Amino acid sequence: MSTEAKNSETLVNLTIDQRQVSVPKGTNLIEAAKLAGVEIPYYCYHPHLSVAGNCRMCQCKVGGKIGDGGKLSIACNTQVQEGMVVYTQQSAPEVAEAQRATLEFILINHPLDCTVCDQAGHCKLQDYYYDYNAEPSRFTEEKVHKVKAEPLGPEVMLDGERCILCSRCVRFCDEITETSELGMFNRGDHTVIGVVPGKELTNPLAGSVVDLCPVGALTHRRWRFNTRIWYTDQVDTICVGCSTGCNVKVATRDGEFVQIKSRLNSAVNQEWLCDEGRYGFDRFQPKTRSLTPTAAGQSINLEQALKLAQQALSGQGALAVFLSPLLTVEDIFAISQLVTKSLGGNLADVAVQIRERSLTAVEAKLVSPDYAPNAYGAQLILNPAASAKYVENFRAELEKRYLELLERVRSGGISRILLVGHEAIRDVDIDAKLREVLRASSTVVLSAKAPVGENFEALAKVVFPTRSVYEKDGTMINSSGRIQRLKTVLKASQNLLPIWEIVKKLSAEIGAPAISNNVTDDRSFFRSMVEQLSLLEGLTLAEIGDQGVSIYDRSVKASDRRDATAKNFASSAVI
Ligand code: SF4
Ligand code: FES
Repeated sequence: MSTEAKNSETLVNLTIDQRQVSVPKGTNLIEAAKLAGVEIPYYCYHPHLSVAGNCRMCQCKVGGKIGDGGKLSIACNTQVQEGMVVYTQQSAPEVAEAQRATLEFILINHPLDCTVCDQAGHCKLQDYYYDYNAEPSRFTEEKVHKVKAEPLGPEVMLDGERCILCSRCVRFCDEITETSELGMFNRGDHTVIGVVPGKELTNPLAGSVVDLCPVGALTHRRWRFNTRIWYTDQVDTICVGCSTGCNVKVATRDGEFVQIKSRLNSAVNQEWLCDEGRYGFDRFQPKTRSLTPTAAGQSINLEQALKLAQQALSGQGALAVFLSPLLTVEDIFAISQLVTKSLGGNLADVAVQIRERSLTAVEAKLVSPDYAPNAYGAQLILNPAASAKYVENFRAELEKRYLELLERVRSGGISRILLVGHEAIRDVDIDAKLREVLRASSTVVLSAKAPVGENFEALAKVVFPTRSVYEKDGTMINSSGRIQRLKTVLKASQNLLPIWEIVKKLSAEIGAPAISNNVTDDRSFFRSMVEQLSLLEGLTLAEIGDQGVSIYDRSVKASDRRDATAKNFASSAVI
């Protein structure tokens, strides 16, 4: 069957507010309306949970053909049909009236405590009230009162009065983690969300229920009342806790993390986030920094540091390079260029620190068995031939390489050592023997951590201070081969150079430039990198966007593009 015939079979044509739209069979009206650029408001619907249909906010008028007046239906539970005609609040006064009445009903028992509610400023009830009701309350009776602060577990607090009983939190625990800690209790306007007797909300993804709650009923116990949302800076980026690469929105205030929320990405994390990633978000931000290069614990200037590093790394001795699992694709590529173009080494001399770990069944639903957000990026650069196709066992390959290189260093066969980034060698791997070798060798370190005590930074001949993983823009490739953007969430001191810039200066000092003079900023470095990595050929930051793109899907498209260009060229030549 031709692709065209297949498409016409699976696409359904309908009209939404006089706009023609074609969407895949099985799409519900909320998603179809999004594709037509029309908003249908909703509370209980979530694209990755079952349909509950209990909030009634998504009502619209659905008819069989144009001119058929139709009747009110809930959009979340209505799938598109060929020739269907849909009227939303924008084109049908009855729909606007139904939504207005629904909001009035939801607000009957809702407390007016927006002034002290953490959700104020990003609350769906506030937003929809202004958009779809905006009338004073007619309710003069006493509201039903419920519990105001009930811990559901160690991390999540419930305010029962604010709950609109959408049941998203209950469905998440039933359908996603399958731990079923939450339920709905009592009847009518006395219904409350609560923990099932004998249980506690302790599953490894428990904090996700706060993201799912459309109002301020669920809050993170550790972040309650810490700031109004409008005082924060918010950045859409990715979590660097493991190679799943969950999409997150990070809120900071005065240089501190004040809230981490998951972002919807159906190809990566749906809209879930593990508690280890969320609540441990600041664990990679070093507490002790130095803003100048150091040698033997003393501050030196950049020129002196470059000279010392040039002396340490030039020469013919065996080379070993250890990379942090937190480096970006750009960082790893810059180091690979330094190794092969300036240090006379090859990619086999470079290892990225990665260790597999075991996961519980619930963790394994989201979390990857590593602490290496860009493990696949390292695989792509360090094993380019192997990664032309997706590699299943990349973690085992990388771990083996790391352990073997570490053993070669311990055995004393290496004289030039370069360590780059946070835990380029894991703390637990640094024993007395390794310390002795690192101290005795020509060891150069690029790290955001200051040399303190017996850390590996303190054992180096020279240390270049770098940005932390939160202070840089770049890209990372997750465990399924999807390249995503890492964005700056904390502003770095201007003394802290990007790794490509340190490499550019150091390779020039060595006399074998690794980075072109045309590279002057992060973006020009990205462009020069994608020109040199065939799997990323033609990739732009715009193509990656805020949802990322699979490097393997696009490599097929790239070859299609090349074929099409060749055909166009051939046909224009004939004309
Ligand atoms: Fe919905 Fe929030 Fe109530 Fe759970 S606590 S039912 S997510 S409003
Ligand atoms: Fe459709 Fe709640 S979103 S009924």
